[in-house]
Amino acid sequence: MKNIVLLGFMGSGKSSVGRILSKRLQRPFIDTDHKIEKDHGKKIPEIFAECGEEGFRNIEQKTIEEVSRMEGAIISTGGGSVLRKANVDALRKNGILITLTASPEVIIERVSRKKNRPLLNRPDRDEFIHKLMEERKPFYSVADLVLDTSGNELHDVTRRIIGYLLRRGELK
Ligand code: S3P
Repeated sequence: MKNIVLLGFMGSGKSSVGRILSKRLQRPFIDTDHKIEKDHGKKIPEIFAECGEEGFRNIEQKTIEEVSRMEGAIISTGGGSVLRKANVDALRKNGILITLTASPEVIIERVSRKKNRPLLNRPDRDEFIHKLMEERKPFYSVADLVLDTSGNELHDVTRRIIGYLLRRGELK
């Protein structure tokens, strides 16, 4: 059974939708950032502070390699995981890739609620989000399905994903 992999920018709804999907489909849920924190006994900002972004990306790549070998899991990835082609290739091998998007305004609103994203810890945060979203757009477009979550309840997004999987014959 294929994994269902959620890709998308920070605050696009990957973890929330992943959790709902996992309950609905009765499949295991893995959030790669949570797994990294659990495996290393450190929070993501601490890993960035100690190892830099490159060091974090190396850890992230190992984690993705590992979770890509699972069967039938719902996998929520970190927003920057798509930057390495090796990650996308590994996830695609046994996975259906679904990108969640949202407008910059909605993303800014959502990420403002938490302070756990080291990349966004900067005075020009809002401007930076616009720029980074634009830069990453091509990386997120590699998915089998792209869904906008901006005006939608995350339960509706989940229903649309399930509809897509049913049409593809992926849910038995
Ligand atoms: C990152 C996204 C974060 C986390 C790290 C870097 C990124 O995950 O992996 O802070 O580069 O977009 P979320 O997308 O779950 O916030």
